Amino acid sequence: MKKINLLLIIIIVFTACQKKETTIKHEIVKDSHSFSKPNQAVAKHLDLDIKVDFNSQTISGKASWIIENNSKGDEIIFDENSLNITKVTLGDDEKETTFELGKEVEFHGKPLHIKIKSNTTKVNIYYNTTKDGVALQWLKPEQTADKKKPFVFSQGESIWSRTWIPCQDSPGIRFTYNAKVTVPKDLMAVMSATNPQQKNKTGIYTFRQEKAIPSYLMAIAVGDIEFKPIDNRTGVYAEHTVINKAKWEFEELGKMVNAAEKLFGPYQWGRYDVIVLPPSFPYGGMENPNLTFLTPTVLAGDRSLTSLLAHELGHSWSGNLVTNATWDDIWLNEGFTTYVEHRIGEKVFGVKEAKMQDVLSRKALKVNLDEIGNNSPDSRLKVDTSGRNPDEGLSDIPYEKGYAFLQTVEAAVGREKFDKFLTDYFKAHAFQSITTEDFVEYFNKNLINGDKVLADKIKLNDWIYKTGTPNNIIIPISEDFNSIDNIQKTWKKIGVKGLNQKIKSTNEKQHFIDYLPNDITPKEMAEIDKEFNFTNSGNFVVQRQWFIQAIQHKYKKAYPSIEQFLTSYSRTGSLLPLYKQMIKTPEGKTWAKRIYEKAKTGYHTTTIQAIKPLLK
Ligand code: BES
Ligand code: ZN
Repeated sequence: MKKINLLLIIIIVFTACQKKETTIKHEIVKDSHSFSKPNQAVAKHLDLDIKVDFNSQTISGKASWIIENNSKGDEIIFDENSLNITKVTLGDDEKETTFELGKEVEFHGKPLHIKIKSNTTKVNIYYNTTKDGVALQWLKPEQTADKKKPFVFSQGESIWSRTWIPCQDSPGIRFTYNAKVTVPKDLMAVMSATNPQQKNKTGIYTFRQEKAIPSYLMAIAVGDIEFKPIDNRTGVYAEHTVINKAKWEFEELGKMVNAAEKLFGPYQWGRYDVIVLPPSFPYGGMENPNLTFLTPTVLAGDRSLTSLLAHELGHSWSGNLVTNATWDDIWLNEGFTTYVEHRIGEKVFGVKEAKMQDVLSRKALKVNLDEIGNNSPDSRLKVDTSGRNPDEGLSDIPYEKGYAFLQTVEAAVGREKFDKFLTDYFKAHAFQSITTEDFVEYFNKNLINGDKVLADKIKLNDWIYKTGTPNNIIIPISEDFNSIDNIQKTWKKIGVKGLNQKIKSTNEKQHFIDYLPNDITPKEMAEIDKEFNFTNSGNFVVQRQWFIQAIQHKYKKAYPSIEQFLTSYSRTGSLLPLYKQMIKTPEGKTWAKRIYEKAKTGYHTTTIQAIKPLLK
């Protein structure tokens, strides 16, 4: 008996030692958009202590980083862009150290070289933001919904977090954070972390993010905001005049989280809340952990645009839990999330709705490929954005081609097997950042598993590394859309009366609008408008699609509303197709320039970055 025990102990000790030896540290992959060298010295935790000042429109304070100096060398490199670094100290006793800023590179900012000791574990950076910072948008009261108090919010993705926090700004580097944020006493602060649900009298708010996240998910919003719960783990933040509308619109949020968990495993972040931002928020949504940031354009009044919520929620698995290691791998974030979004949508809104969304998605892919060309290197899933602003290279490709690829895989292996694969994939890479190549390796090992027939059926390499789309792409079909296609063939002859009783939902309207005949006249558009009131529809997506047609077919009655639309919001992805349509004619370009000049003070810097080059 004793002998067996001893043997057992020996075996246990032996295997334990072996394990230790095999857990070699994973090298962090090189990210061309970050100056940091994490394999030498890497930041693991942030204690942020900042003050938000609306008079000077700056954030100032201290970023204390807990670091691991793996190389035992004498420097750590952070990214910074447009910050004013005033002092750097080391350790709890804050011994001042020297630092140096390297050469500036367009969009990338500068490397911040800090002298450290081989045993340094803490670096304290004192800094303030400046007017040139891209991430922060400071809004005057009149730019908010309530029009009474100022507002500020951040947008970190892709490479803008370094414009409000000195950090190792690569999605391949993860850290936890605590923050203490001091704001004017009449405002409330929220972050991508556990959040307060009420204003307090001190104007001081504290936050904890205990899960390791990449820097682009650092986020803050400060304004006169309120909170309303939806269920016991979901809720909504918004300004007073928006909060009830938002709560109603997002009533299904809790259901969506439950649906996603059933599909892909437990939601790992604790609470899931959303905040509706003022109209200059430049995206439909941004998946900041615990607190998705949303455009107010999602508030259609009929819950018809909430697939956006499903998308941002989906990032809680694909993106925030398993993260693209570099911006060249962004399809791992956006393609997987588009897939997850559609699956959540199918569960919550039903199969008919999902089929329509599938057809719209494939159409978006076609439009994008037509625009950039089937041979464009940007039509690969794995892209090369080095030297470029990653936001600039961003198209619908990572979303829609990524989605089409995952649908192809699903069809090849069957839903049950694919769901299990995805759940396992999220679990195996939870809180890790991975490259496309890591994915390929995992995929081949766990799904293909030597099955050559299956591999040929899927054509993984073609999908990921080749341009355009492979011929095994699925063509989705929607019966509901087919009915609309039939209507499309006849309305010119029999008139449009009564059509608004047949084409009712937002998806159906969008499909009808997108496939209006090429030779449609302004007079016919006026008839349609009389029937549907598209020009003044309160639905942002319906208006956007209708306005693209109105510009193309010179339906001038809609022009004032188009101008209104372009000057009211800064949702880049929705403004761009309108501007792109306008600049196709000389008069249109003049018009576009005039509107842009008027609108630009309300636009976010990233929106300006996207639109300005078009108008040259
Ligand atoms: N993470 C993106 C937004 C983003 C991508 C910001 C790249 C900066 C760089 C977000 O999840 C997103 O995809 N938003 C979409 C909406 C979605 C429903 C397609 C948007 O804003 O258009
Ligand atoms: Zn997304």
